[in-house]
Amino acid sequence: MNILILGDIMGPSGRQVIVEKLPEIIRKKKIEFVVVNGENAADPGVGITKENSDDFFKAGADVITTGNHVWDQKETMEFINFEKRLLRPSNLFKGAPGNGFGIFRGKKNMKIAVINLMGNVFMKKCDDVFESAKQFVEKVKLKKDADFIIVDIHGEITSEKMAIGHFFDGKATMVVGTHTHVPTSDYRIMTEGTAYQTDIGMCGDYNSVIGMNKENSLKFFLKDPSAKKHYPALGEGTISGLMVIADDKTGLASRIEPIILGKHLENRI
Ligand SMILES: [Fe+2]
Repeated sequence: MNILILGDIMGPSGRQVIVEKLPEIIRKKKIEFVVVNGENAADPGVGITKENSDDFFKAGADVITTGNHVWDQKETMEFINFEKRLLRPSNLFKGAPGNGFGIFRGKKNMKIAVINLMGNVFMKKCDDVFESAKQFVEKVKLKKDADFIIVDIHGEITSEKMAIGHFFDGKATMVVGTHTHVPTSDYRIMTEGTAYQTDIGMCGDYNSVIGMNKENSLKFFLKDPSAKKHYPALGEGTISGLMVIADDKTGLASRIEPIILGKHLENRI
């Protein structure tokens, strides 16, 4: 099973590069299942609308994960209740709308579990991420309950994400980090067979400060009161993510390939 997971789709530039380039990547790399993190997709670079989600599904996404910005567009709390392919972090406080994980069908009717987790350090308050991970692995076992398990750990700090990676080693097909919008070079298959990357980067304009307009961001850091709150960079976008070739028999990773395609970053595809 060839699985592709893409990092945070950031504002109009991110959306455009997904619509333009994702179908071609799927075809060329023979991708069979696609997960994208969509929590920054809406115009201001925060949140996701129904229209954004529909565009990603049309471009080839099978599941959309999110994170701390999941509720930044008002409509999301409503439509997430009937759009089961859109996930919010599973460790949000009890009573949050929508689901944090789901089991979806891929080729040959294989079961693909996707769980969206959010870190606790420097993030919005949510339930203990390790406790939630523990509950999940007790409930969903690789090759028993699902043929493949994909984990998106949306978090700020590298140590927490790496620890989650090791926690799932041998128990999930892949664990990837999202949220920082910067792809890390530590993509690998861990000792027990789980693919891992601390952060898979963003899909958006890298001539920016993590996807936001660079001049405006500098104003903000220089404490210029004219700095706007949300001002995404609108230049040409780059797609960034990780492709995992997973063994149908074991559900573990047999090969991985980072995918970077577009302007401003050195391409890897
Ligand atoms: Fe985030």
